[in-house]
Amino acid sequence: MMKQPQHHGTRFAGVGLSLVLTLLLMLPSDAPARAPDPKKVVGPTECAECHKDETEAWKKTRHYKTFKELPRNKKAREIGKAMGLRRVRSEGLCLTCHFSSKEEEGGKPKPIAGITCESCHSPAKDWINRHSEYSGKKKETETPAEAKQRMLDAEAAGMIRPKMTYALTKNCYDCHIVPEEKLVNQGGHPAGSPFELVRWSQGEIRHNTWHNSGAENRPLSQERLRLFYAVGVAVELENSLRALSTATEKGRFAVTMAKRIQIARLRARRLARATKDPDLIALARAASGARLSLGEVKSLAGVADLVAKAAKAFAEKHDGSKLAAIDRFLPKSDEHKGDTRIPGS
Ligand code: HEC
Ligand code: HEC
Ligand code: HEC
Ligand code: HEC
Repeated sequence: MMKQPQHHGTRFAGVGLSLVLTLLLMLPSDAPARAPDPKKVVGPTECAECHKDETEAWKKTRHYKTFKELPRNKKAREIGKAMGLRRVRSEGLCLTCHFSSKEEEGGKPKPIAGITCESCHSPAKDWINRHSEYSGKKKETETPAEAKQRMLDAEAAGMIRPKMTYALTKNCYDCHIVPEEKLVNQGGHPAGSPFELVRWSQGEIRHNTWHNSGAENRPLSQERLRLFYAVGVAVELENSLRALSTATEKGRFAVTMAKRIQIARLRARRLARATKDPDLIALARAASGARLSLGEVKSLAGVADLVAKAAKAFAEKHDGSKLAAIDRFLPKSDEHKGDTRIPGS
């Protein structure tokens, strides 16, 4: 399946200026978010001031524990050694996925925690006050219009809100499909987990305790589960295509990514057939044309862009109510990864 690198120098020589500009403009938004910007990180202790239950749930996760445990992990030292690194906690490469750093004014970035609130909801310096301040009033006196505007302002300042399904999902896959060829082939790092969004978000990660004041850690609604499942498959496909597009040698990295693509596009085809949704049909069709070989950098990245566009459109269009056809694909609750925290425990 994998082929030797080919060279396409001439094929792309005539690319127009507008395409080049488009590619340049796309860079910032398409670059993986991964570690939150240290200059904008406030740290999980700040969030805990108000979000006690969500913080308690987070403290039971691997995301929290990795901060203390990774530097003592034997496998981590082996990977570090194979990569020529000395201390995993202060190395940029490991930091980008395993830890969050904070940069105090005038100081150097310092690792402060594992994968935190801000790894998923985005670094908060520019939005933390805005989202929580009830527009300078009290909860009871803020009007619904003011509340709506407040949260729109927080979004504009970068906050990733629970309803932003595509952005939330993209975050998970940017870390969980490890897009680093050298780290995998030379370092012996896993090329990514057998990640599936519903299974992996509804176990230990779940912290839906805020909008009911900690009474219950409620499961996602059936509608949102459908959306999570389908967007998860789409982003799996997008990110594994992007990863394969960067591969330079026939090794574990390229082979694993090619396998991931094959499985994800089969799932995407099934979803498209079951739902007859035009965006899912478009992304399944785009992916089925992808040639899974080395040296296909631009064409694979191009397919990934098409998949991303359709995935975003799909996530924005649906609230899940019209997607009952997805129910039969959903994993059962006993397949969820890790134990869900019950409030009070
Ligand atoms: C001073 C208290 C306070 C602090 C500190 C705080 N929050 Fe909040 N948070 C709130 C309030 C109040 C709301 C509810 C806003 C609403 O629904 O109108 C909220 C809502 C949220 C939501 C849900 C938004 C939605 O769209 O439903 C998320 C996610 C969130 N906060 C994340 C964080 C994170 C991450 C931090 C730390 C970086 C943080 N918060 C710090 C008070 C706070
Ligand atoms: C692109 C993101 C990413 C980078 C960069 C990264 N990791 Fe990981 N790492 C992960 C994820 C996600 C997992 C979870 C397990 C999995 O994917 O199978 C993980 C798991 C691990 C594990 C547990 C593996 C096992 O076999 O149990 C170790 C050890 C580890 N990483 C060490 C490192 C070290 C050391 C570095 C830096 C040299 C590093 N990682 C860089 C994402 C990353
Ligand atoms: C691994 C990614 C991740 C991390 C880490 C994370 N969240 Fe979330 N957060 C999510 C997801 C996913 C949802 C649910 C989305 C949905 O309901 O569709 C969510 C929902 C929320 C909500 C709304 C809950 C409700 O009852 O509706 C709040 C508030 C929140 N998170 C705050 C936090 C805080 C505070 C932290 C850190 C202590 C944190 N989150 C850590 C991904 C994350
Ligand atoms: C900044 C990178 C990053 C992001 C974003 C991220 N993860 Fe992780 N996640 C990791 C790493 C690294 C590990 C492994 C930590 C360890 O075991 O030391 C992990 C572990 C996990 C585990 C535990 C796996 C196990 O083997 O027990 C679950 C579940 C999980 N992540 C789900 C999610 C979900 C769901 C999202 C998105 C809502 C998400 N993660 C976002 C990096 C990330």
